[in-house]
Amino acid sequence: MRIIIYTGKGGVGKTSVSAATALAAAARGQRTLVISTDNAHSLADSLAVPLGADPVPIRPNLWGLEIDVLTEIERNWQAVREYLLRLLASQGVAEITAEEVVILPGMELIAALLRLDEFAREGRYDTVVLDTAPTADTLRMLSFPSAVEWYFEHFLGMQRRLARVIRSTVGPVMQTPMPSDNFFTALQELHDRFARVRLLLTDPSRTTVRLVVNPERMVIAETQRAYTYLCLFGLTVELLVVNRVFPAQATGGYFAATREEQTTNLATLTTLFGGLTQLPVPRYPTEVLGFEALERLGADIFGTADPARFWPAEAPVRFVTHEGAPVIELALKHPDPKDVELTQRGDVLYLRVGGYRRQLTLPVLYARGRIERAYFDGGTFRIRFRAAPRPPGRGGRRS
Ligand SMILES: Nc1ncnc2c1ncn2[C@@H]1O[C@H](COP(=O)(O)OP(=O)(O)OP(=O)(O)O)[C@@H](O)[C@H]1O
Ligand SMILES: [Mg+2]
Repeated sequence: MRIIIYTGKGGVGKTSVSAATALAAAARGQRTLVISTDNAHSLADSLAVPLGADPVPIRPNLWGLEIDVLTEIERNWQAVREYLLRLLASQGVAEITAEEVVILPGMELIAALLRLDEFAREGRYDTVVLDTAPTADTLRMLSFPSAVEWYFEHFLGMQRRLARVIRSTVGPVMQTPMPSDNFFTALQELHDRFARVRLLLTDPSRTTVRLVVNPERMVIAETQRAYTYLCLFGLTVELLVVNRVFPAQATGGYFAATREEQTTNLATLTTLFGGLTQLPVPRYPTEVLGFEALERLGADIFGTADPARFWPAEAPVRFVTHEGAPVIELALKHPDPKDVELTQRGDVLYLRVGGYRRQLTLPVLYARGRIERAYFDGGTFRIRFRAAPRPPGRGGRRS
């Protein structure tokens, strides 16, 4: 099962591009499912068809699904939910509020990821396209499988043992309900499913992320951060879909300045994401709604290419810990290590290796550290940081 995740800043065109990709994949005979994980579901509006909490057939080979958190919680988290509701009720929280409290913001994506695991095992679809909520939420949630992993590793065994002891000793007289064994079994099951989802998400032969951008400075800035964090979570970023590019005929009049501004920003995109394939899409005079408009969008993005193909992903960046120090690893093959320039300015790392230029926004842990050493090791370029005791001053420049 091929998984394509579209993400990007609010309003850049994620939903339209997701729907267009799914339509194009289905037209090529791929059994395709498009999933909306944004609770402000607009996928149905975009396709102009009603969708629901289970896959709805839209066209030959095409199904659509809008994740409904309440349905998913009932389906997947029953034991966990029941316990949390009892726990909250014992603390005097009314049931109707408790039901709301059990839902975490961004849970749509978690639910979608669990469904992905299900679909992958059933083998019902060839291609799954994920239309996500704006970047911040999505990134937080894409990191969830690893965050959850940590939590489970540390607490699951301990909690279960502890609860057993407490239940058999003070349990009957305590006000607070103890979680049942069911609760722990459910947690363990979720844990296993998340572990599988993590494998699925970080497998570059199955899952890639495509960033949707507009040629606007604020959009670009957020997209850079997104790129860094996606690498941090081990996801493979494959494409930039540059949406809303003003065509040449829009040069004159009111939009002349817009065109100029876009030209500058398109050049910036090339500098920042040089190695990543960019697929430009024109700004249409009208909204992109319904099959016909979406098919045109799909054709403008992919031409005759298979929309589910893998574009050559940029040399992956890995953020790892080596002998206790944060290290960035770049898969870079370069014969002359003398031809390397590395500069850190605040949380941005500038790297030039021969004709290869790269600008990376650093995660906090790295941004606070100092570059200790940078060296080639086979085909890998390693940048080793020393953790700093306190944050650096503004605009500090180090080479
Ligand atoms: N290339 C384009 N030309 C003209 N209109 C476009 C283009 N791409 C998208 N639109 C329109 O812009 C609006 C927002 O697009 P869309 O809903 O796809 O963005 P989104 O990134 O999913 O937004 P959100 O962050 O709210 O989910 C829609 O009305 C859509 O039809
Ligand atoms: Mg959307």
